[in-house]
Amino acid sequence: MKYSNRGCNICLVGLQWGDEGKGKIVDILTESFDIIVRYQGGSNAGHTVVINNEKFVLHLIPSGILRKNKYCIIGSGVVLDPRQLLDEISELRSRNIEIGDNLRISEIAHLVFPYHKKLDELSESEKGDEKIGTTRRGIGPCYSDKMARNGIRVSDLFHPEYFKQRLQKVVEEKNKILVRIFNTDSLSWKDIYDEYCGYAKQIKPFVCNTIAFMNEAVKAQKRILFEGAQGSLLDVDFGTYPFVTSSSATAGGAVTGVGIPPSQIHKVMGVMKSYTTRVGSGPFPSELNDALGEHLRVKGGEYGATTGRPRRCGWFDVVAVKHSIMTNGADSAVLTKLDVLDEQKTIKVCVGYRSGNNIYDQFPADLAAWTECQPIYKELSGWQKDTSKMRDVKDIPPQARNYINTLEDLVGIKIEMLSVGPDRGQIVSLV
Ligand code: GDP
Ligand code: IMO
Ligand code: MG
Repeated sequence: MKYSNRGCNICLVGLQWGDEGKGKIVDILTESFDIIVRYQGGSNAGHTVVINNEKFVLHLIPSGILRKNKYCIIGSGVVLDPRQLLDEISELRSRNIEIGDNLRISEIAHLVFPYHKKLDELSESEKGDEKIGTTRRGIGPCYSDKMARNGIRVSDLFHPEYFKQRLQKVVEEKNKILVRIFNTDSLSWKDIYDEYCGYAKQIKPFVCNTIAFMNEAVKAQKRILFEGAQGSLLDVDFGTYPFVTSSSATAGGAVTGVGIPPSQIHKVMGVMKSYTTRVGSGPFPSELNDALGEHLRVKGGEYGATTGRPRRCGWFDVVAVKHSIMTNGADSAVLTKLDVLDEQKTIKVCVGYRSGNNIYDQFPADLAAWTECQPIYKELSGWQKDTSKMRDVKDIPPQARNYINTLEDLVGIKIEMLSVGPDRGQIVSLV
């Protein structure tokens, strides 16, 4: 399917708790764009694209890399783990994906260091039952350092003396925390320095002033696709805090994470799964802790693309998705994984939460309310037909059409594409 972007720059975001199928949709849209840019997050993301049964999982590199003659940009809002990046580049090259001048990395992106990963792990262990369930990729500690102005950026790697001094100071401080608070071994700044000087040489060809690059592209009216990572309900401000990630996963993050004018995001497209998943801890009112939840997990292949952890599964949550549509200003949606519901006789949709005598049809702010929320369901008939081979809107079974229309009515935006399987070709245009 060739998507017509009508000259719009699009920001594509996840409307749930991540893993909505963004990678697949970015890959489909990429054909109609010149530049694909990641604006936040880091290697906590796992975006899967399947092309003729061949599976690719992208963590840091935009999913657009799988198509030829497209520029892929890692914007300044991303936190970059150079080891992970180099591994990803080697893996892709070994599978004949071209990576050279088409990949650009922001010189002001913050770097993830071994102490970030170690602190992520230790802080999670310390929290015990209250752990966030992070991907342990050092994301929270790296963004914390950025905000606390203790971060080290890509460009610092190319000034060895300055880098050495700064790293020495930061590692000294981290060692106090590691040894005195966590009672664990200290790290050697020199080992990290040598390791990262090695990375510096290897990543140098890709590093540039991506702000200038992107603003030139805007002037030249290049078509830009912004690839959101994580999901809007994991956004540090608008998600289920504190069970969130540490970046702005919503569309607003694209402006600050790339450095382009807000007016250059012409359209926001939200990706939503036909049901809900979440990996890690935190509220999930429509979660199914039963055989049906397990069925969705197995049929949907719901195991983390980054950590391999089983994802928690449940029914589609209208309250949560409406909140995400609002915080993103989403103009339209893509509905993914419809095929996973094929066997169901009835399908439930969570349209509100009940907590004691209170009914919520809006996203509650406080965690205490969340914890007590029980889902209020609307029931619809299932279609009990294989939808995975469907390619034309005419082939959609009436009950599936009813499910799609009901979701559109409930969330208040149009669904313009329907995904019915992991492969690039398993897509139906609804417009
Ligand atoms: P992302 O993080 O949003 O890019 O999503 P992930 O790649 O982490 O998870 C989505 C999973 O669902 C991947 O394994 C995809 O290959 C798969 N997938 C995407 N769309 C569909 C679909 O429509 N049907 C099915 N069955 N699988 C899909
Ligand atoms: P994509 O881009 C699903 C979750 C983690 C944890 C919380 C914080 O593939 O949709 P972090 O490591 O970011 O500090 O973890 O956020 N999380 C994701 N869940 N998909 C993701 O990315 C995620 N990235 C982080 O599981 O609950
Ligand atoms: Mg994912």
